[in-house]
Amino acid sequence: MNTPVPAPDAQPSTQPAMVKVWDVLVRLLHWSLVSAVLLAWVTSEADQPLAQQVHEWAGLTALAVIALRLVWGVIGSRHARFVQFVRNPRTTLHYAQQMLSLREPRHIGHNPLGAWMIVALLTVGMLAAGSGWLSITDRFWGEEWLAELHEFLANLLLSLAAIHVCGVLFASLRHRENLPRAMLSGRKRPPAAGDVDNVD
Ligand code: HEM
Ligand code: HEM
Repeated sequence: MNTPVPAPDAQPSTQPAMVKVWDVLVRLLHWSLVSAVLLAWVTSEADQPLAQQVHEWAGLTALAVIALRLVWGVIGSRHARFVQFVRNPRTTLHYAQQMLSLREPRHIGHNPLGAWMIVALLTVGMLAAGSGWLSITDRFWGEEWLAELHEFLANLLLSLAAIHVCGVLFASLRHRENLPRAMLSGRKRPPAAGDVDNVD
């Protein structure tokens, strides 16, 4: 359910300067995933055995991070849970329309479009790393179609990540807050009138 924050009747002086939104595991997993995917990417075309090993370990780390994030999305803190931020298609479409006319509200957690991008990044990330893993098993070793699928999924993941970063920068500009910094500190400006903080 979308819950616009009511006009504040409390005295601003009693409000905290910042509120805690992202718990430590969300932040740790995000930046670990970014590092692992980028490391897998830069080592993907290397010929040396050491670089190939780094590629495989980085990819497997990304897979483990995604698995942990999926569990944390069910049992984690409030803004980490999928039910808190993944909205239905109607709400997401409405948000997209608002965004096109530059009227979209600020969200305290992930906004509906960002949320679906997160679902896409986690799914494609899992498939990209999973297909890489399969390609080194005895059963699928040397299968050309799997190598091509793996490369395609990895390219798709990087393209989605680029769009994701554009979305983050756009939302940061629109709502005048540094979202990458919030993903580091876990803190954001408190909700104001008209902001949305979904109730799960
Ligand atoms: C391979 C590249 C990347 C991947 C796979 C990725 C993936 C993700 C995922 C899965 C989330 C959800 C966080 C959670 O709730 O656990 C997220 C959120 C976020 N990411 Fe990334 N990310 C990438 C790169 C980046 C980069 C380079 C930045 C910095 C500019 C960034 C900034 C953010 C921010 C600020 C959020 C929170 C967005 C919000 O406020 O709703 N990401 N990212
Ligand atoms: C999200 C993580 C990953 C990304 C972004 C990624 C990216 C890539 C890319 C772009 C290529 C193609 C390189 C070329 O142009 O030839 C590649 C190849 C390869 N990757 Fe990954 N990879 C990931 C995870 C993994 C994992 C987990 C493994 C194994 C444990 C793995 C094993 C391989 C192998 C053996 C190749 C060469 C043969 C093939 O294409 O299947 N990768 N990877």
